[in-house]
Amino acid sequence: MAEKNVIQKKIYLDHGATTPLANEVYREMLDSYQEAYGNASSLHSFGRDASRLIETARERVAKAIHAKPNEIYFTSGGTESNNWAILGIARANKNKGNHIITSTIEHPSILEACKQLEKEGFVVTYIPVDQEGVIDYAELVKAISSKTILISIMAANNEVGTIQPLRAIAELAKAHKICFHTDAVQAIGALEIDVANMGIGAMSISAHKINGPKGVGVLYVKKGIEIQSFMLGGEQEKGLRAGTYNTQAIVGMGKAAELAVSKREENVKTLKNVKRYFLRKVNEVMSNVILNGHPTNRLPGNVNLSFEGVEGESLLMMLDMAGIAVSTGSACASGSAKASHVLLAMGMDEDLAKSSIRFTFGTDITPTEVDYVVEQLRVSVKKLRAISPIRIYKVKGVQ
Ligand SMILES: Cc1ncc(COP(=O)(O)O)c(C=O)c1O
Repeated sequence: MAEKNVIQKKIYLDHGATTPLANEVYREMLDSYQEAYGNASSLHSFGRDASRLIETARERVAKAIHAKPNEIYFTSGGTESNNWAILGIARANKNKGNHIITSTIEHPSILEACKQLEKEGFVVTYIPVDQEGVIDYAELVKAISSKTILISIMAANNEVGTIQPLRAIAELAKAHKICFHTDAVQAIGALEIDVANMGIGAMSISAHKINGPKGVGVLYVKKGIEIQSFMLGGEQEKGLRAGTYNTQAIVGMGKAAELAVSKREENVKTLKNVKRYFLRKVNEVMSNVILNGHPTNRLPGNVNLSFEGVEGESLLMMLDMAGIAVSTGSACASGSAKASHVLLAMGMDEDLAKSSIRFTFGTDITPTEVDYVVEQLRVSVKKLRAISPIRIYKVKGVQ
């Protein structure tokens, strides 16, 4: 009897959804579980030990983004940071105006917070993007009015990886004395963001996208920006974010931010090579595959492809059976039959949007593993196209 094809190792290509914990982060967290279990707000030595670790983490995050430690607030993750920035800054500044500007391709934690503000009487302008996912800068300029109090545009998109012209947006906001917030959850591991130099007013980060633990993040708030408290209760985080400190997670956040910066150059280089190799191989064996997002100005580890005539979720399941983990659009959109709001905003039709798969690589992938992924892709896409009711109507190669 022929031997079964047993997969030796699973291949994880969903680093955009979350990343594995780095060893260095794990070790520091573990030590802190044993050595600093006190409540960081307690006055005794146990509390002070925990508090010291939190302040070290704060300094590390501040250094990573060129902020001051007293501008760093720990949260439960990117979602909370984004909710807090949008709701907290808008509500605190409503005496100055009621207009917010964001983009059509933001993460749901921004878009849903904006919808909430609309219910409260704020007016929100959603700036469109072009086919490559770049915001329409001219529309942004046009949208600004004397009532605009906040602009929130993400640094890099989680689904298609497109990087936004952050410096230009920050300068525009500064010129109009408007607070600029950016969701840098996906970008921080790939881009150097100097908040002080760029004049960014607020910025969201999440640890689990940069090899840190889940459930912890940061909201950077520039000194002088008015923001309402998000959680009511104790005096933690200068009374703006109540709740007993999750010391161990915060330790992990600090170490992950430090590592993201120290390894950034090397990681970006590795990921760019992986991406180039993967795209070349895909291009060699398949046609009618489209690269979504900006061809060059994009996150190094992100490849979002539309496979014409294929249902994305079926392809995801077939790859999963072959031991390969990918995602359709964002993790939050997976499991639902809806086409990605990002791809639709980029002008893609619904069928093509539903045929899209996001591959987000890690630095440890080998060429042999990439070859295996491409071969599984080729076989799966061929099978799915053979039974597809959708006619392949475009002929385009991978860029
Ligand atoms: C761009 C972006 N913003 C915000 C979030 C939410 O972060 P968290 O998972 O830490 O709540 C994510 C996570 O998918 C993201 O990709």
